[in-house]
Amino acid sequence: MKKILVTGGAGFIGSAFVRYQLRTYPEVQVVNFDKLTYAGNLDNVKECDPARHTFVQGDIADRAAIQAAMAGCDAVVNFAADTHVDRSIMGATDFIATNCTGVYNICEAARELGTARVLLVSTDEVYGSIREGSFTEQSPQGPRNPYSASKAGGELIALAHHETFGTPVIITRGSNTYGPYQYPEKVMPLFITNLIDGEQVPLYQGGEHNVRDWLWVDDHASGVDTALRQGTPGQVYNVAGGNERENIVLTHKLLELCGRDASFIRLVKDRPGHDFRYSIDASKLRGLGWTPQMPWDEGVAQTAAWYRDNEWWWRKIKTGEFLEYYRKQYADRK
Ligand code: NAD
Ligand code: DAU
Repeated sequence: MKKILVTGGAGFIGSAFVRYQLRTYPEVQVVNFDKLTYAGNLDNVKECDPARHTFVQGDIADRAAIQAAMAGCDAVVNFAADTHVDRSIMGATDFIATNCTGVYNICEAARELGTARVLLVSTDEVYGSIREGSFTEQSPQGPRNPYSASKAGGELIALAHHETFGTPVIITRGSNTYGPYQYPEKVMPLFITNLIDGEQVPLYQGGEHNVRDWLWVDDHASGVDTALRQGTPGQVYNVAGGNERENIVLTHKLLELCGRDASFIRLVKDRPGHDFRYSIDASKLRGLGWTPQMPWDEGVAQTAAWYRDNEWWWRKIKTGEFLEYYRKQYADRK
């Protein structure tokens, strides 16, 4: 694999995947195709060597643009998506355009160009919530919010494309990812940056005991890379962190790391349709040789330290559009 198109490569996990490719495979060239929505940020790839990393601003919902960018690439790895559940509850039009139509455009362009690999990065949320045990790749889809429904739709479009046209589609379903460069709307960077600023953290009431399985961002990148290089077209691979924690446990850990006490917790109204627990079994991907490397305690400590040491990165994000969003999302949420 010599030239890889990464869509959404200016986002959180996409940029980690770009950096992973460049440091792991000296022969690889990356074309980074990103719309630069509110979540896209060229600061995330500013250390990448311009001789091996080319940036193209564009929208995967624009068929001509994505096809032009894919021409001459051996593989496309799609991270581009609208990704925040709470925003999808406020309105999901953009989610459907990117997460469904965008995926269809990538599949159609791959068919036309004969692209050798199409890897779609998806989520454990497509299974829905599970009280006990873990979902495997054989479990049925059961998405329960607009974001996860749009991701499930994109998956079905791509898997049908594989069945109908033989497009070499591979899908990964990752669990909750954390680490540096995550947009501070998601729980970990939101809580850490609020605590650094001496502000309370809005913990969803009734959701205190909800469970998420935390996956270090570089482990997610290496999981996607394993599926890309070792996986079989038409197959789905779960990428699990193996670190299930209740939200209240995560919150207390962040309070401790940021030197704050429990008075910094503000219990707010729960997320509508809040999925109780996500849990997936990653044995299939482990069978291809993948193992996550980062212990949870160390990963969370590194994450808190990164936001403490890199205020230059997030202070300019937590202004303008972000503050407007934060007010709408949390101001009246008693
Ligand atoms: P993110 O929100 O940080 O980044 C998304 C990126 O996609 C941004 O750079 C944005 O500008 C770009 N983008 C959005 N719409 C686009 C479009 N129409 N055309 C081109 N670029 C567009 O997201 P993330 O957390 O890095 O997630 C990346 C992928 O991983 C997504 O597909 C998401 O569903 C999946 N995923 C995320 C997690 C998680 O916990 N963050 C877990 C499992 C799977
Ligand atoms: O599971 C994978 C998914 O993880 C990805 O597909 C999504 O793109 C990603 O956003 C993430 O979804 P979640 O909804 O699980 O992540 P979020 O950070 O929004 O919330 C994590 C948990 O924290 C969830 O139980 C809700 C809770 N929460 C979240 C926010 C933003 C709060 O209690 N308060 C908050 O302010």
